[in-house]
Amino acid sequence: MKIELRKWTIEYSPALVALCNSVDRRYLSNRIPQPYEPSDALSWISKARQIDGVEGVFRAIVVDGRIVGSVSVERRPDIFCVDGEIGYMLLPEYCGRGIASEAVASICSAAFFELALRRISAVVFSDNAASVRVLQKNGFEHEGTMRRAALKDGRLCDLSLFGRVLMPCPI
Ligand SMILES: CC(C)(COP(=O)(O)OP(=O)(O)OC[C@H]1O[C@@H](n2cnc3c(N)ncnc32)[C@H](O)[C@@H]1OP(=O)(O)O)[C@@H](O)C(=O)NCCC(=O)NCCS
Repeated sequence: MKIELRKWTIEYSPALVALCNSVDRRYLSNRIPQPYEPSDALSWISKARQIDGVEGVFRAIVVDGRIVGSVSVERRPDIFCVDGEIGYMLLPEYCGRGIASEAVASICSAAFFELALRRISAVVFSDNAASVRVLQKNGFEHEGTMRRAALKDGRLCDLSLFGRVLMPCPI
């Protein structure tokens, strides 16, 4: 199995539509439109391309030539600009094969290097065991739990904050 990260291009918009319409949304925020339309993909990809390498790194996860997921790190605003927030998702049929773990390893290296970050944060639903494991395998540490911090599908949820800091850190 060959896993690569590629920059998004407009030609990938049908694959992004398919991904967003089939991903398991139980542990995602609601900001991804549902249903996800071709116009949503076009505008997201063109925005990602404009700010890539400055405000974030945005990559398609490609397995054996097929786009199966998305992974990104976005710089946080204002005084938090040394920190980036990571996010990732995969087509359900590709889960459980170590793909996200490898994709997170690669995007963290790219984000620390290209965005000169000092830290990467992840905020996950505390019961998203697969996501928590992906972070732990990539050197993220559990820094705290935000109790009853999210309302998802009528359910109050705890969120866990994970962080990974750049080591060694120049300043
Ligand atoms: C979260 C997600 C990206 C994980 O992708 P993945 O490719 O399956 O992850 P990996 O295979 O690299 O690693 C998953 C790890 O979690 C473990 N895991 C999976 N389900 C688990 C469960 N219910 N309980 C405990 N561990 C679990 C796996 O065993 C594996 O750990 P291991 O390598 O030590 O055996 C994927 O499930 C997904 O896209 N989910 C929907 C979107 C989402 O939740 N995104 C994250 C938002 S923060």
